[in-house]
Amino acid sequence: MEAKIVMSGIRPTGFLHLGNYFGALQNYVLLQQQYPCFFMVADLHSLTTHPDTKELKENVHRVLAENIACGIDPNQATLYCQSHIPETSELYLYLNMLAYKGELEKTVTFKEKVRLQPENVNAGLLTYPVLQTADIILHRASLVPVGKDQEQHLEMARNFVARFNHRYGIVFPEPHAFNFGSNLIKVPSLDGSGKMSKSENQNATIFLADEDETIRKKVMRVKTDNGPTSEQTPKPDYIENIFLLMKLVSTEEVFNQFEVAYNNCTIRYGDMKKQLAEDMINFVAPIRSKAQDLFANKKYLQEVMEQGAAKARQSAKSTMEIVRHSMGLNY
Ligand code: TYM
Repeated sequence: MEAKIVMSGIRPTGFLHLGNYFGALQNYVLLQQQYPCFFMVADLHSLTTHPDTKELKENVHRVLAENIACGIDPNQATLYCQSHIPETSELYLYLNMLAYKGELEKTVTFKEKVRLQPENVNAGLLTYPVLQTADIILHRASLVPVGKDQEQHLEMARNFVARFNHRYGIVFPEPHAFNFGSNLIKVPSLDGSGKMSKSENQNATIFLADEDETIRKKVMRVKTDNGPTSEQTPKPDYIENIFLLMKLVSTEEVFNQFEVAYNNCTIRYGDMKKQLAEDMINFVAPIRSKAQDLFANKKYLQEVMEQGAAKARQSAKSTMEIVRHSMGLNY
């Protein structure tokens, strides 16, 4: 049996945050030791929502720096930029003939974007999951480490792959969303109203570039109450949210200590938030500082991108030869 291949990507639409880390990057770092991995900055996808490209180069560099600061080793994994692989666009075109308007219009992320940017409902937005499928199957990848919000895109990718394989012969393995420890993760925003996000809800998102004081301020603003008055009271959503975030960045001992205090009604949310803020700072500060250094080293980032593009193109080229052949486009 062939070794499984891993592929995933992040859009350069802003600073990375704890959601990107725990939903995606944490898995990338573990997977790179076990499988051939392709990790990409999805600059083409970002054009569907951010047509102004003035800051794109800087954002691509920052996402690369943040990937490496989180532990991606560019000599182990293939780290590259989506637009450097023109084969992606060719495969995207072929897959578009296998994707139906109706199913694309029903995609949750598409409907969300229509709501957020009614003045720019472009065709790229509609076919976003098709481009994402092209990214993945261009390397014939089957493991796709992503957060919960990408689950539907992976389901669609499986449909497109099944249609391609049915029509033209079995070329691609089935891609699956992947997370170590089973369930896909959604890191909630601090206010519990949604998820942490690069471009929305910035005050309720902890970015990997946030300064210590910013993190303290954001965490201390989180809504709490006076605490439970009787033992074993179920937690309201906004309190459950704080525990959820604590589970990600604090030690088990600290987490359990607040869990016990909640259950015997002695919890002090002020103390809990202070602890959470410090644990987030301890987590973020070393990544922030590494990313800043890397971001300043443009020559290194350029080398990483070029080396990554060369490796990714090799893989893309060999897949596209098989694709054209199986589609009968070989005359
Ligand atoms: P993007 O840039 O929105 O997010 C990058 C990764 O971070 C995860 N993520 C989260 N996980 C948990 N909780 C959160 N609050 C949270 N916010 C973001 C996302 O699930 C994702 O894994 N469409 C993709 C980019 C992409 C891609 C691909 C992914 C393009 N081509 C091919 C996989 C394979 C996206 O918009 O990710």
